[in-house]
Amino acid sequence: MTKSPASDREQIAEYWRTEISDISPGKIAFRGYAIEDLIAGVSFPAMIWLMLRGELPTRTQERLLEAALVASVDHGPHAPSIAISKIATSCGLPLNGAMASALNTLDDVHGGAGEQAIELFDDILERSKSASSIEEATSVALDVFISEHGKYIPGYGHRFHPVDPRSGVLLGLVDEAVAKNEVGGSYALAARAIETVLEARKGRRIPMNIDGATAVIYGELGFAAPLARGVFCLSRAVGILAHAWEQTSRKERNKGPIPRSFDYRYDGPARRLLPAAR
Ligand SMILES: CC(C)(COP(=O)(O)OP(=O)(O)OC[C@H]1O[C@@H](n2cnc3c(N)ncnc32)[C@H](O)[C@@H]1OP(=O)(O)O)[C@@H](O)C(=O)NCCC(=O)NCCS
Repeated sequence: MTKSPASDREQIAEYWRTEISDISPGKIAFRGYAIEDLIAGVSFPAMIWLMLRGELPTRTQERLLEAALVASVDHGPHAPSIAISKIATSCGLPLNGAMASALNTLDDVHGGAGEQAIELFDDILERSKSASSIEEATSVALDVFISEHGKYIPGYGHRFHPVDPRSGVLLGLVDEAVAKNEVGGSYALAARAIETVLEARKGRRIPMNIDGATAVIYGELGFAAPLARGVFCLSRAVGILAHAWEQTSRKERNKGPIPRSFDYRYDGPARRLLPAAR
């Protein structure tokens, strides 16, 4: 079947249809705003919001997003993502390769737990509509989560910090925004209910970590759960880049996970001969 050039053009235009970028010779605009105006008038967090959400944020929304972005940039070389950026750089990867390798470690256990946390908060909030208290809804939601995913609740606990110093500040900013009626506060409520129920169950506090606290912010701001992980990656990319760049100035090549003078333990079979019959 022969198609007219006009209908081909239409088909291709439809194929790459987007509501985000409007680019033609000499013209660049995003979500309807000219890039010249955005460069002059918009912060990077506001630009992220515009690209992901379609409209510009209010000042409070921008401030909360910025706080979450600042809080997650780095956690030093003992964070797997940062360690991998340094290892990859020492093996000769360029910055983009090192960044891609490091970003790939941000999954459910490290850095990506915010996505699961928002889903859990949503489940609690849904259940609380028919429960006698938020704690009751939380208890049921935790049982369901644990039966499906295991005992670790996303957004709580830390390998390193008894109390994550970032969480309190972030929740404080959410509380301020709730007091001004600028966000609803339900995600903060659900997140705190998890801390309370976990403490009652475990007999000790398992405090909210950075992924939990930023998930509260992303939830309050109306971000879809997968975007919590995506936006975390944007933030952590800053630390990953900084450490990869610092590593390029070191004379280390092929940096392993432990210094060469240390050993790991081998606990497989003792040395043996190959079977003769092979
Ligand atoms: C981050 C994490 C891996 C650190 O784990 P850890 O401090 O090494 O904890 P351990 O595996 O040694 O567990 C110690 C105890 O605390 C409990 N615990 C730790 N984190 C927990 C969590 N998130 N939910 C429930 N219980 C938790 C464990 O169940 C265990 O208790 P038990 O002995 O009664 O079973 C873990 O807390 C976790 O997986 N959290 C969820 C994922 C997450 O939020 N990641 C982002 C981290 S910034």
